[in-house]
Amino acid sequence: MDKQPTVLVTGGAGYIGSHAVLALKEAGYRVVVFDNLVYGHRDIVETVLDVEFVQGDIGDRPLLDRVFQTYPIDAVLHFAAYAYVGESVANPAKYYRNNVVGTLTLLEAMVQAEVFKIVFSSTCASYGIPHQIPIPEDHPQSPINPYGMTKLMVEQILEDFDRAYGLRSVRFRYFNAAGADPQGRLGEDHSPETHLIPLVLLTALGQREHITVFGTDYKTPDGTCIRDYIHVADLADAHVLGLQYLLDDGETSVFNLGNGDGFSVKEVISAAKEVTGLSIAIEEGPRRAGDPAILIGSATKARKVLGWDPQYSKIETILEHAWQWHQKRHGQSNP
Ligand SMILES: NC(=O)c1ccc[n+]([C@@H]2O[C@H](COP(=O)([O-])OP(=O)(O)OC[C@H]3O[C@@H](n4cnc5c(N)ncnc54)[C@H](O)[C@@H]3O)[C@@H](O)[C@H]2O)c1
Repeated sequence: MDKQPTVLVTGGAGYIGSHAVLALKEAGYRVVVFDNLVYGHRDIVETVLDVEFVQGDIGDRPLLDRVFQTYPIDAVLHFAAYAYVGESVANPAKYYRNNVVGTLTLLEAMVQAEVFKIVFSSTCASYGIPHQIPIPEDHPQSPINPYGMTKLMVEQILEDFDRAYGLRSVRFRYFNAAGADPQGRLGEDHSPETHLIPLVLLTALGQREHITVFGTDYKTPDGTCIRDYIHVADLADAHVLGLQYLLDDGETSVFNLGNGDGFSVKEVISAAKEVTGLSIAIEEGPRRAGDPAILIGSATKARKVLGWDPQYSKIETILEHAWQWHQKRHGQSNP
């Protein structure tokens, strides 16, 4: 009889990782969450996820060795990282240490423990300024900030680890993760928050005075930046499929995970007004350095190879689920 596979989820107390944990549990996997709680939420681990939890840092090799000795880990889903682009420009050492050196420590522990399958959270930020929309996986990767560079470096390390040690990886390049668990159990709760949708909803809740729109003179129909928002529950499903692909002896591979469609900042704000029924004050600001006008990914490969079938592509649905969560997590709406 097949045993129930055990998956180590680094960063499982964070936004995307926690949604993946629920999807893994629902798919019948045994899950061990490994998170240092720098940004993750203990209450979510204890009250919602209900899985085994190790509080620790991916840079702590002795602890990782103990975890691999204690649990019969079959594969790793690796979400743990720092992900603030601006901070990575100001403090690159912090990012290279955590995202690259930390990941290298994890990978060495995996090889030592003979765990040869990993799903890695990469990013569309590894492409830099795109010269083709929608962006395919073979678009050149030329990140314009240290955060994107840390993810590209890990992608390279993973290629080399496959050749040298037979460590198979699925690298997922996410576009903008958004939304919340459709059942309202989990959602986005970053501190500080920098993502558009939670900022818009926190403004609707009266917890921020206004939402700043950075740049209104881009070459887009309404002048604001266009981004590809992918529902976090669809991302979570992709991870279950990516894991299954590796457990079925799939080759090392890379997949974009995006909606294939884009929404401008102004479109997101106006859809949020509809969904919440509340006013949302806008302040127009200058462009931010390094923000491309349009970022949309092609996820044709994930659909074809993994059979990924995203369920929540409409921006209204993404906002409804996020709104449900934000009201529950951050209090009642303003009058
Ligand atoms: N949110 C997005 O739109 C997006 C887009 C592209 C890629 N990503 C990537 O997806 C992953 C998850 O993003 P998220 O939005 O859920 O972020 P998050 O901050 O909510 O989750 C990351 C988790 O990793 C933990 N962590 C960080 N460093 C750690 C370490 N050294 N040891 C152990 N745990 C550590 C944090 O405590 C947190 O719980 C990250 O790797 C991020 O770079 C996110």
